[in-house]
Amino acid sequence: MADPVIDTRLESLDKARTAQDDEFFTDLYDVGDELQHYEEYFENKFVFCNCDYYETSAFFTYFNDSFERLGLRKLVCMGVSPSGEWHMFIRSNDGMLIKKQLDYCGFESDISIAALQRCDVVVTNPPFSIYRDFIELVIDNAPHYIVLGTILKCKLGKIMEKMRQEKCYTGHTHGTLNFHRPDEGKKKVFACWYQNVKKPIRNLVNVNEGLREYDNFHVLSIDRLRDIPSDYEGVIGVPITYCTIHNDIQFNILGFSYDPHLQYLKKKTYKGKQRDPVQDGKVKFARIFIQYKKKYLETQRIDF
Ligand SMILES: C[S@@+](CC[C@H](N)C(=O)[O-])C[C@H]1O[C@@H](n2cnc3c(N)ncnc32)[C@H](O)[C@@H]1O
Repeated sequence: MADPVIDTRLESLDKARTAQDDEFFTDLYDVGDELQHYEEYFENKFVFCNCDYYETSAFFTYFNDSFERLGLRKLVCMGVSPSGEWHMFIRSNDGMLIKKQLDYCGFESDISIAALQRCDVVVTNPPFSIYRDFIELVIDNAPHYIVLGTILKCKLGKIMEKMRQEKCYTGHTHGTLNFHRPDEGKKKVFACWYQNVKKPIRNLVNVNEGLREYDNFHVLSIDRLRDIPSDYEGVIGVPITYCTIHNDIQFNILGFSYDPHLQYLKKKTYKGKQRDPVQDGKVKFARIFIQYKKKYLETQRIDF
């Protein structure tokens, strides 16, 4: 897949956050495209789709239709119908089937948190207007998750912390997905997944020479992922889309220019106040700092 570019499409789900417009329903094709990579994991698992009204959710359809094939132990969906009623669905491999209307079962409700703590994995596309609350709750309470998002969501502290620790990865697919909108039909949005189930097998990042530091950080400025130098010990600033190709054999993710632990990289000669990386006076949007792993560089340098 070609390097994704940051453009307006990438931001449209994030704009939904400000507009509190959460009705972006995932297409069954995109659900299957990602989830096929975890099929062997699902055996005997309790899957919880916590933002999914079972009558309309493609996550429900995927898991309910493949319940036996995947060997699921339990499937629970909780979500809100288009008319605003909250519903729960439970199916388990001992034949139990429950469909129930509840007063409220939003992802932050007691009943939903109880399921979150008992399940093996949360799989959903959550409301973007409250994504931070959602992902913090899920990461703190569920053992595993496979959750749709945008690349910009990796700027959230909790996600970045886990990615830095190599405890969260982007998914196996990313790109322009088709979301169903209540009044608009299909809408294309650039999206990716965050998950801690299965480390993706990634190609080594393709590299080239091209060395220039930012005006304000002792960090190499790279605008295109294919221009990352092949042998560089220092810190490299790359577009945030790097997250979708990150290979943790090769690189460490350090974080963002404004992270307190990265302030040692600031140039003393820079007199401005800009916290984002600047090059030739221009602010660079959504850059992430990475660094080759020492071990990787050492093996690359061995002349057999
Ligand atoms: C981005 S949509 C995705 C729906 C479904 N997961 C899918 O992929 O098709 C998020 C849904 O969550 C609903 N929602 C809003 N607040 C919620 C909450 N606190 N708990 C659970 N769902 C919520 C929204 O109304 C919306 O239908």
